[in-house]
Amino acid sequence: MTNTELQRQLETYYTWFHQHPEPAYQETETTAHIKEILDEHGIRILDSGLKTGLIAIIRGEGESASVGHVVAVRGDIDALPILEQTGVPYESLNKGYLHGCGHDYNLTVALGAALLLNERKADFAGEVKVIFQPAEEVAATKEVPTGAVTVINTGALDDVEAFFGTHDTNQGEPGTAFISAGPDSGAVDKYRITVHGRGSHAAHPNGGANPIRVAAALIEGIQSIAGQDVDPVHPRVVTVTHVEAGSTWNVIPATAFLEGTVRTAFPEDRIMIHDRLRAIVEGIASAYDVTTDFEWEYGSPSVINDADWSALFASTATELGLKVEPSQPSLGGEDFSYYLGKAPGAFAHLGVGNGDRPMHGPTFYAKLDAIAAGADLLATVAQRALLRLGEQR
Ligand code: NI
Repeated sequence: MTNTELQRQLETYYTWFHQHPEPAYQETETTAHIKEILDEHGIRILDSGLKTGLIAIIRGEGESASVGHVVAVRGDIDALPILEQTGVPYESLNKGYLHGCGHDYNLTVALGAALLLNERKADFAGEVKVIFQPAEEVAATKEVPTGAVTVINTGALDDVEAFFGTHDTNQGEPGTAFISAGPDSGAVDKYRITVHGRGSHAAHPNGGANPIRVAAALIEGIQSIAGQDVDPVHPRVVTVTHVEAGSTWNVIPATAFLEGTVRTAFPEDRIMIHDRLRAIVEGIASAYDVTTDFEWEYGSPSVINDADWSALFASTATELGLKVEPSQPSLGGEDFSYYLGKAPGAFAHLGVGNGDRPMHGPTFYAKLDAIAAGADLLATVAQRALLRLGEQR
């Protein structure tokens, strides 16, 4: 397949996926269509037991020291509950859903990589697992984990030695790849605090313990952590987003509630902020003679790109004619981090233009000009990673 043929083919695939967006863990048509395309090309699909999403495998038939090594590449496949207002001629047929984060683009890049690796299988040894991951956008809970965790829990990736992934970004034009070593996304944690004071008549506050003044002290204290306790050059956010207490003007309520989010790029900050936050809650509760319930829910960790694999990703992109720029780390969440908890790897952002159309908004869609180059990048970095793993023995 020439680059032009691949480009045209991927544009056709993309259009179908754009028209059929499905939300987290409901990607049944999407999964079926991916499977159909892989089947057409004789690409094997692993029997992973996933209900949505799938893992394809391409086994190289070449001979080199890479035999027996395994790497994985990943594209996510879920959409968002957004009513489309892009104005493109191939609008969503699932009204109320849109690939507002561009996972139609990401999955098409992964699909293109699978086709290329399949074509090139005489040229490499070892195996590449291509992950079509469901539910990247799910609001994960203990009962319903994020898609990466669901995929990892199948055990189908236990032998993977390096992970690579791409995500579209509208902060760059097509043909640009953003890659950096180190933190690339935020750890996404949640906290909830309930203050148990003692309700009383507003005219007799001394007979109770007003949870509202405790909440005020907590808000002050919690928000100061980001400014005072963390290395000033480390990205982080500590935010209070929800406060509730009381119901009328002349009654001091018995309880107050507050919650918010903590986003960090470095694992050590994550632990430190958790500990400071807990200490502030306990200290203020004791000072004001109330009790508190403190809950901290760990979400996905931050994506931390491995230095060597990022360098390989970047040099491969440059050789393939892409313009490589450093990645701008964001404190948004990205569950690719869970794969990097299993084996090192790297995550790159591919420019898709449309910077005036906010991602996760109703007008966003990806420009496709360099989608074949993105697929080539993902396929080629996987081949080169296998080579390098072979050399290391
Ligand atoms: Ni996304």
